[in-house]
Amino acid sequence: MAKHLAEQWRSVTRLVEAQPTSDGAGVNLNRTIATGALSDLDPFLLLDEFNTDNPDDYIAGFPDHPHRGFETVTYMIEGQMRHEDNAGNGGTIRSGGVQWMTAGRGIIHSEMPEQEDGKMQGFQLWVNLPAALKMSEPRYQDLDPDKVPEITHENGAVVRVIAGEHDGARGPVADIVAEPLYLDVALPPGAGINQPIPAGHTGFAYVFEGEAMSVIEGEPGNGSATTVPYRTLAILGNGDAVSLHNDTDKPARALLIAGKPIGEPIVRYGPFVMNTREEIQQAFNDFNEGRF
Ligand code: FE2
Repeated sequence: MAKHLAEQWRSVTRLVEAQPTSDGAGVNLNRTIATGALSDLDPFLLLDEFNTDNPDDYIAGFPDHPHRGFETVTYMIEGQMRHEDNAGNGGTIRSGGVQWMTAGRGIIHSEMPEQEDGKMQGFQLWVNLPAALKMSEPRYQDLDPDKVPEITHENGAVVRVIAGEHDGARGPVADIVAEPLYLDVALPPGAGINQPIPAGHTGFAYVFEGEAMSVIEGEPGNGSATTVPYRTLAILGNGDAVSLHNDTDKPARALLIAGKPIGEPIVRYGPFVMNTREEIQQAFNDFNEGRF
């Protein structure tokens, strides 16, 4: 007898539309996590999408700014971003490449477009750290595009595995406390994929190309579907797997992300995310007195 793929398929508990916003020195973004509608989604603290071919939307970039207490994950779909920090680290995140930066006790860095025209498309995700790791040493995982496995299924679905595992392929991001899953899922019309997500982990999908994707709440071909429109984040309910399907007649693409919740108090102020107000004050003092 065929084994069921899942004990419990994850449904959609909530849809959150992206909100246009601006950050850095004037970069136009679409934000879903870290908005009035969704302040955080433990362990995730922020999700920004940038997607524009107008240089005025991105050219100002993100000049020197600090981070403490969490991780920033930059995934470039198209375009190039140059980063440099106050410890002398630097590099370029290329189309299809990823930087998983554990800010820990603190870095000051800049993130600037390495292009003056053309399209710039990608994401920044913030992942929280538990209290025990908020003051850890800063650490980078810089991954060129060829380090990211790309699985092409018979039905035409193409999945890039940035973190976690899909269909036997492991993403290159290692040793992250949230045990993250980070997939880029491209589905032609009529195609779908199934993906295990450990029960208890927070999961979401964000549709960034095409018209919509569907989350099938049951055995594939035998469940009800929730449509997740373009530029909308679907928070997934609990379960041990999710089934995504493209019911439209246009190609669709989504991020599928999951991670282990931390369950600690979150006190945030701009680029500092700690557990208490005192720790935020300390972050300001350390930053102002040059201890980053
Ligand atoms: Fe940053």
